[in-house]
Amino acid sequence: MKLLEDRIRKDGQAESSTVLKVGSFINHQVDSQFMDQLGRDFARHFKEEGITKVFTIESSGIAPAMMTAAHLKVPMVILKKQTSKILDGEVYQTRVMSFTKGTSYELTLFADYINKEDRILLIDDFLANGEAAMGASRLIEEAGATLAGIGILIEKSFQKGRKRLEEAGYKVYSQARVARLDKGLIEFVEEES
Ligand code: G4P
Repeated sequence: MKLLEDRIRKDGQAESSTVLKVGSFINHQVDSQFMDQLGRDFARHFKEEGITKVFTIESSGIAPAMMTAAHLKVPMVILKKQTSKILDGEVYQTRVMSFTKGTSYELTLFADYINKEDRILLIDDFLANGEAAMGASRLIEEAGATLAGIGILIEKSFQKGRKRLEEAGYKVYSQARVARLDKGLIEFVEEES
């Protein structure tokens, strides 16, 4: 998607061969109108999938997920990384490893916010190794619902996330696909037209 690629070229910073900083419009300060445009694009891409809810993983996925849900006119559900002490009732949980950050967390979904008829669109900001998305898919499938699509803002195509998700049978749409990073260098995957 040219809109996001152009913005990354303008405001993104390649820190190293693995990390792209986009804190000025996605991860820290959020460009709300730009996010609305990205949300509209996700909604358009997945409009035939019968989506009933948009799911995301806290925290940076929330802004694009909210905009997407608003355009699809469905609720947005936040998968938590920490179990709240006041969250009583049935929960689905699975452990997720973050290789980028070298940490792990217990991804948690309150059972009241999912049912077997749900067709879910998962939205997240980055796709690296696909650990977070695979964790979300485990929770969704445990609840008996369907993961109907995965929308990603920035896919690091040189890491294995997309391959894993596609091999698991999921439809993945990434708005920007980064082929290569290095300090000061950002190259995108050339899409066939
Ligand atoms: P994976 O789920 O695809 O395997 O990704 P991984 O665990 O490696 O990524 C973990 C965290 O690191 C995620 O944020 C993800 O958004 C972030 N991340 C991965 N690659 C990059 C990158 O190149 N640049 C930036 N800025 N972030 C990256 P998180 O822990 O969920 O944090 P949050 O920002 O959503 O709160």
